[in-house]
Amino acid sequence: MSAPGTSESWRLLDQLADSHRHDRIADYFSADSKRFEAMSLKVGGLFLDYSKNRVAPPVMQALIDLARDSDLEHRREQMFSGAAINITEDRPVLHTALRNRSQRPVEVEGQNVMPAVRASLDKIKTFTHQVRDGQWRGHTGKRIRHIVNIGIGGSDLGPNMVCRALLDYQRADLDVHFVSNVDGRHLKKVLRGLDPEATLFVVSTKTFSTQETLLNAQSAKRWLCKNSQCSDQEVGQHFVAVSTNKEAALEFGIREENTFEFWDWVGGRYSLWSSIGLPIALAVGFDAFSELLEGAYDMDRHFVEAPFEANMPVILALMGIWNSNFLGAETQAIIPYDQALHQLPAFLQQLDMESNGKSVDLNGNTVEHATGPIVWGQTGSNGQHAFFQLLHQGTRFVPVDFIASLKADEEVAEHHFALLTNMLAQASALMNGDTQENHLSYAGCPGNRPSNVLLLDELSPRNVGALIALYEHKVFVQGVIWNINSFDQWGVQLGKRLANDISRNIQSNTDNYDASTRGLMGIVNRGLRPETGDSGDLKVGSGT
Ligand code: F6P
Repeated sequence: MSAPGTSESWRLLDQLADSHRHDRIADYFSADSKRFEAMSLKVGGLFLDYSKNRVAPPVMQALIDLARDSDLEHRREQMFSGAAINITEDRPVLHTALRNRSQRPVEVEGQNVMPAVRASLDKIKTFTHQVRDGQWRGHTGKRIRHIVNIGIGGSDLGPNMVCRALLDYQRADLDVHFVSNVDGRHLKKVLRGLDPEATLFVVSTKTFSTQETLLNAQSAKRWLCKNSQCSDQEVGQHFVAVSTNKEAALEFGIREENTFEFWDWVGGRYSLWSSIGLPIALAVGFDAFSELLEGAYDMDRHFVEAPFEANMPVILALMGIWNSNFLGAETQAIIPYDQALHQLPAFLQQLDMESNGKSVDLNGNTVEHATGPIVWGQTGSNGQHAFFQLLHQGTRFVPVDFIASLKADEEVAEHHFALLTNMLAQASALMNGDTQENHLSYAGCPGNRPSNVLLLDELSPRNVGALIALYEHKVFVQGVIWNINSFDQWGVQLGKRLANDISRNIQSNTDNYDASTRGLMGIVNRGLRPETGDSGDLKVGSGT
């Protein structure tokens, strides 16, 4: 297998990008009346239309060949069978085992992990029923009415996004909140108005060593004791923990029976299927949580069984590679035309950028091609009145994924009609533009801007599960073709180390830091400790 950038198919794609550089997507439709049918796919409750990409038939073939020439089939088999493909951490990557609905064993170091996976699901089920049925009570005997998940990154974004997406599946008498930022006001805002005696905290952290989560959990404990005369013993009735680090959870004061485990072969950003999904089960019930897993399992089956040319994750990945590596797009916009999916761009930012934001390949060499794009986005139709101006008339080439669900909430059906028609219009306008009929240069939209449209039959747990698994596998396919490790995140460590350093040294006059950092440390230190005599106010003009 030749490295990306050097393979025959890669070189051919470079030539095709050059020879097709003046193509207009709209002309492909005039040339082929069956283009929409040929370049769309239906998998379960998901429909993908990728026909509005700047992809001519020879390019499509060359992209499929690129996937074939890559190590994709082998790496996919390795991932599903538990090989340690996360080579820098020497770990398997088995988030798919968490939603394996077959009797197929999945081995890690010769041990079938499925019994443990099923046991953890049983524990989630039992606990979810206890809380939702009112058997689990606070230390004063009150039913739990408020769930507060304390976690960050993969221990927040996934469950948070899914809980927002499945709002219609939640009960009015049990609300779920998410606290992640180390900024204490996030916790304060969430706790405002909550009854401590009816509040259950879920401390979600794979490592149980993340500063933000530990600080927020400590403060939450203090809030509970201060506002409900709760003794240390009784605190255990209001705190459970989800972690791979049980010892640290016990040390924090979590009761053994209140610890929910998962395993190091689950990446944080791939962990919502594990006990990290406990807030989801508590919010929507265990049956709906199971449906979420079922939907992801369906997408896993499709990903493993479908030929590349009809494989939704592979196609989505190849559209992204064509747009970024051959047409020069730096970013990927994610625009959910569904308010319930407003957290999806943030979730996909971590999934995609923490996975493929890498510049060293599997052999430790610096890559010579672009890797993960900058993923960004916001809900439609809001985005239309914010940044779509740039998407239509800017100088940057921004591929867009439009995502919507077809089934309307009958109470607001008219709104839903407007939502979907706006989305269709935006995708069409990006492709067709209007320079022909618009002679006012400043008012014309050049068009020829690509987009994918993903339609869900309805925003059900099953379809949401399939949607997330689709993007997980898209990211995996791109990582394989770029020959990088999508499952580590060493780049996040430096900032954490420096933060510890700076908090230790902020009062000392050490010159371990550059002048700017030292200067700012001084200002922050004086700002935090006015007793040091200087008001800490910024001295205007002194810096320049
Ligand atoms: O700093 C990044 C990261 O390690 C993510 O990969 C992870 O999802 C997040 O921090 C939270 O980590 P933990 O679940 O261990 O608290």
